Amino acid sequence: MPSAYWDESLAERYRRFHYDFPEKPLAGRAVIVAGGTGGLGSALVALLVREGARVIVGYRSNRERAEKLQQVIEAQFGAKLHLVAGDILDPAVRKAYLDAVKADGAPLAGAAIFPGDPARVPFESLSRETITASLESNYAGPVLLARDLGAAMEGWGKASGAGGNLVLLATMQAVAPFASSLAYAGPKAALVHAARVLALQWNKVSVNVVAPGATVAGMAESSVSAGKYDRHISSGAISRFGRPEDIARAVRFFLEPGQYATGQVLVVDGGLTIRRDRG
Ligand SMILES: NC(=O)c1ccc[n+]([C@@H]2O[C@H](COP(=O)([O-])OP(=O)(O)OC[C@H]3O[C@@H](n4cnc5c(N)ncnc54)[C@H](OP(=O)(O)O)[C@@H]3O)[C@@H](O)[C@H]2O)c1
Repeated sequence: MPSAYWDESLAERYRRFHYDFPEKPLAGRAVIVAGGTGGLGSALVALLVREGARVIVGYRSNRERAEKLQQVIEAQFGAKLHLVAGDILDPAVRKAYLDAVKADGAPLAGAAIFPGDPARVPFESLSRETITASLESNYAGPVLLARDLGAAMEGWGKASGAGGNLVLLATMQAVAPFASSLAYAGPKAALVHAARVLALQWNKVSVNVVAPGATVAGMAESSVSAGKYDRHISSGAISRFGRPEDIARAVRFFLEPGQYATGQVLVVDGGLTIRRDRG
């Protein structure tokens, strides 16, 4: 009994070693980068704009930095970024992302959700308030935005057949325990699990996670530059610190139209979590 889903013309193409690797599949499509003005998100914005995507960039309150990024991108690539300001915990802000997509008019290919907070709370100072604050910024906000954008993409996907891709940002500390990271790592681990649950939710929307290691830009800049991770280079666990381009490329992979992976976590840490017992 032949498969009801078999595509003989496709099989015949592969027997002749003919493959389809689109050059710039995100060109002309809209992509949302929430937290796209930060140390890591801004590298993705540059990568997507270079490819010809129409990028909607979200930030919470640092308008000066958002406008600076807008200027630099316009000067470098001649492209105008659409900016969305405000806290993603606010339903009106989450709606503003979708309104920006509609106003742009290009089909939405996906979204990367970068907002988070390092939640550096000393063990002794952990309290209901500090843990709740981290849960709000590292879990509730990103999950609610993913829920709203995923639901919209699934709906549009049913109409057009296209679908879309969501990428959430966790941390290596969500997949491997590091001392003194209780307030930060717990909610990020929950975010990883939420991504898997969301991946079950829809048929046309993929949901994946990128988990960065010690990266030189953004919220880890101060701890990395202060030498917190030097011993991992000295021991040979990692050859260098992470760079925003490392993370941008990984997120870009999951945004690829027709993405076949879902519910997965890609740890981009130079090998730190698996080799950290070296030093
Ligand atoms: N940098 C690293 O080495 C590293 C390592 C592991 C994991 N990560 C994770 O990667 C993600 C990005 O980190 P990053 O270093 O790029 O952070 P960042 O430089 O601090 O940037 C954070 C971005 O998110 C926005 N944002 C924060 N909270 C928001 C909220 N509630 N609503 C809307 N926007 C909000 C910020 O806007 P404003 O500036 O206007 O507030 C900014 O655009 C985070 O989830 C982080 O946990 C980073």
